[in-house]
Amino acid sequence: MKIAVLVSGGGTNLQALIDAEARGDIRNGELCAVISSNPNAYALERANQAFIPSYVLRRKEYADAESYGAALDTLLRQVGAELVVLAGFMTVLPDSFCKTWAGKVMNVHPSLIPSFCGEGFYGLHVHEAALAKGVKVTGATVHFVSEVVDGGAIILQKAVEVEPDDTPETLQQRVMREAEWKILPRAVSLYCEGRLTIADGKVHIS
Ligand code: GAR
Repeated sequence: MKIAVLVSGGGTNLQALIDAEARGDIRNGELCAVISSNPNAYALERANQAFIPSYVLRRKEYADAESYGAALDTLLRQVGAELVVLAGFMTVLPDSFCKTWAGKVMNVHPSLIPSFCGEGFYGLHVHEAALAKGVKVTGATVHFVSEVVDGGAIILQKAVEVEPDDTPETLQQRVMREAEWKILPRAVSLYCEGRLTIADGKVHIS
């Protein structure tokens, strides 16, 4: 199954997928393309080092979200993508794209959804909000993408302890290391093995 990974920044989740594929941990799946919304993303360098074809699609070169979604749709078809993974992709996709690709797009989010998610909750902001609330446990979620931001069916979650002296940066690192880099490759592998089904808005793992 051909997997396209959409990125915008450092690409540590992309790296976790590259490493998992090299270990043989993504059963029946192959990373076929990396698409970045940011031409300066370090994720592009990671793709090059792993010999994965990479593409840049900048949001500001398109008049609106609809035309950006249409360009993304065209590119994904050109590369033959069967699964699309949002790995630190910071552009909200239009409803039309979400409908066309329903059940074929997954996202990793750095909290235990439904906490600290939706519009405005991305990257470090998520961890700032968790610390401001004083939660003792946070974590990460991999979910299918729907028209509702961070609202699609949940595939996998993993909890991570918050330490008393955490900063947003230390918490972000722990959530990535202990949760995101583990559950994202696992969810991708489960998808590629055909073990995920969605019914009544919930994911069943066989
Ligand atoms: C990750 O923590 C990811 O969960 C988050 O951005 C970071 C990207 O890091 N994504 C979101 O907040 C999406 N709502 P990476 O580029 O090193 O993978």
